[in-house]
Amino acid sequence: MPRHITISRRFALATASVFAALAIAGCGKQEPASAPAAAAAPPAAARVLVVGTDAAYTPFESQNDRGEIVGFDIEVVKAVAQKAGFEVKFVNTPWEGIFNSLAQGDRDLLVSAITITDERRQTMDFSQPYFDARQLIAVRNDAPINSFEDLKPLKVGVQNGTTGDEVVGKLLGKSSTAIKRFESTPLALKELEAGGVQAVVADNGVVVHYLANNTAGGFKTVSDTSFPVEKYGIAVKKGNAELLAKINQGLEAIRADGTYAKIYASYFGAESK
Ligand code: ARG
Repeated sequence: MPRHITISRRFALATASVFAALAIAGCGKQEPASAPAAAAAPPAAARVLVVGTDAAYTPFESQNDRGEIVGFDIEVVKAVAQKAGFEVKFVNTPWEGIFNSLAQGDRDLLVSAITITDERRQTMDFSQPYFDARQLIAVRNDAPINSFEDLKPLKVGVQNGTTGDEVVGKLLGKSSTAIKRFESTPLALKELEAGGVQAVVADNGVVVHYLANNTAGGFKTVSDTSFPVEKYGIAVKKGNAELLAKINQGLEAIRADGTYAKIYASYFGAESK
């Protein structure tokens, strides 16, 4: 696990909610890059684009101890923006309202380990995929769990409205009281540690990172081939073809010149092809 992620993780987690509150209070609307009130509206390209991200998803997005939003997704979008010639600023945006913030125009794009799904495609547009993921189960070391099916008699924690929520809903029934839905994935994992749920289902990268940095230990992961491969995409408002084209062009450019591979390797080790 790369050092820059692990060092201050505990502190970052402890303070994440404080910073989240500050971030939400402090960063409301879009800010023009430079706009004296009297000047004509700057051309669209000069505006700093506001990127929404639910920064409680290490190593993809989190807030460091200085309150800065950091992570794999953040570096990818910064690199894309640089190639495509636009400026970005990141605003911590709770998952609950994240898609709505895009639809309302409060955010110009979203990067948040968002899985591209057909349902979401109805209400927003996605870039080319930039990352492959899968659901992963976290349980106590001593739990007799070897497959997804084995979760049937258990209380299972998920982040509300995620693809993890969706797959668990299919197994247990969407309205099953055995599904405990949390605002964030770290909260679900905390509840697993506290014993309030017996399993958590979430994106593999986040579960692996969390358990690797969990000093108390005592948890294991269980994978299941029935979980479909998920692809993360950068989301823009439905119909914003201009921005989408720039993002895709930027993604292509960072793949072509090795920037993507470098960012990937710094978080996850060499890419397996
Ligand atoms: N990939 C999952 C989904 O799209 C979970 C993403 C959660 N992201 C976050 N930053 N909390 O539903």
